[in-house]
Amino acid sequence: MEKNSLLKLGFLILILGYINGCSSVHVIDLTWPLDNETVFWNKNTQKFTFTRQIAGERNGYWYAMNDFCIGEHVGTHLDAPYHFYESGWKVGDVPPHRLVAKGALIDLQNKVSKLGHATTLDVSDLEQWEKAHGTFNNETILLIKFGWSKYWYNRTLYMGSEDEKLNFPGISEEAAEWLANSGKFYGIGVDTASVDPGSTKDFKAHVIFSKNQMYNLENVMLVDDSLPAKGFTVVALPMKIKEGTGAPVRILAIPD
Ligand SMILES: *[C@@H]1O[C@H](CO)[C@@H](O)[C@H](O)[C@H]1NC(C)=O
Ligand SMILES: *[C@@H]1O[C@H](CO)[C@@H](O)[C@H](O)[C@H]1NC(C)=O
Ligand SMILES: *[C@@H]1O[C@H](CO)[C@@H](O)[C@H](O)[C@H]1NC(C)=O
Ligand SMILES: [Zn+2]
Repeated sequence: MEKNSLLKLGFLILILGYINGCSSVHVIDLTWPLDNETVFWNKNTQKFTFTRQIAGERNGYWYAMNDFCIGEHVGTHLDAPYHFYESGWKVGDVPPHRLVAKGALIDLQNKVSKLGHATTLDVSDLEQWEKAHGTFNNETILLIKFGWSKYWYNRTLYMGSEDEKLNFPGISEEAAEWLANSGKFYGIGVDTASVDPGSTKDFKAHVIFSKNQMYNLENVMLVDDSLPAKGFTVVALPMKIKEGTGAPVRILAIPD
């Protein structure tokens, strides 16, 4: 090859390498793996289990496969509006464009370190976020970080109790109204087992969001501190269980 062609080839390789570098997207996984540690709501819920496991040599080749069983509301999952509202969308009805949208993150870990399990997301927290970062964009998926993901692998700590007396942070009724009335949010995600506080009896946040065709993302894995307050896209794809009240969901965040 001539010196000139060699130079051209080197240049081409450089350009291709550059393009390739640019196209490797930074992706943050916000999904807990499904395994036999996966948190389930209570003893009436179908835990995640393999119901059949095959793994071994067969006719000279390796062959492995499983069947699995899981409740709709186990692990990192999406609540469809129908979960708490008779006329709400079921999982299969949620328009796909609502599952890929701008993200925003409210970090309440400081508040939790002062107020503990009784912490709620309040209107003042939403107003404070807007003061710091500007008004929320329309068509947003909002994530709320209570710092609860660190308890995931201990169900007692995560649910706040050994028995059915659940106790963990959640969203206040007033904040739920504020979010719903703004008309800006497709869905609300939390790093706890429920958008309502664990101690709730009336599930106000669930009811308010459902009536406004908003979905919930629950048991979101918020362990990556590089997730910014805004400036990222959320991709939240539930299994398309047509009539589902909820479904396991894969959630990714992609910083701008
Ligand atoms: C959970 O899965 C791990 C890894 O497969 C296994 O070692 C463990 O025995 C399982 N625990 C239960 C309670 O099934
Ligand atoms: C948000 O966007 C939707 C869809 O484009 C529109 O119908 C709605 O009026 C907008 N709401 C606000 C508060 O801008
Ligand atoms: C979970 O946390 C509780 C309360 O601190 C503790 O008593 C228990 O031993 C922990 N369980 C495991 C499996 O670590
Ligand atoms: Zn749920």
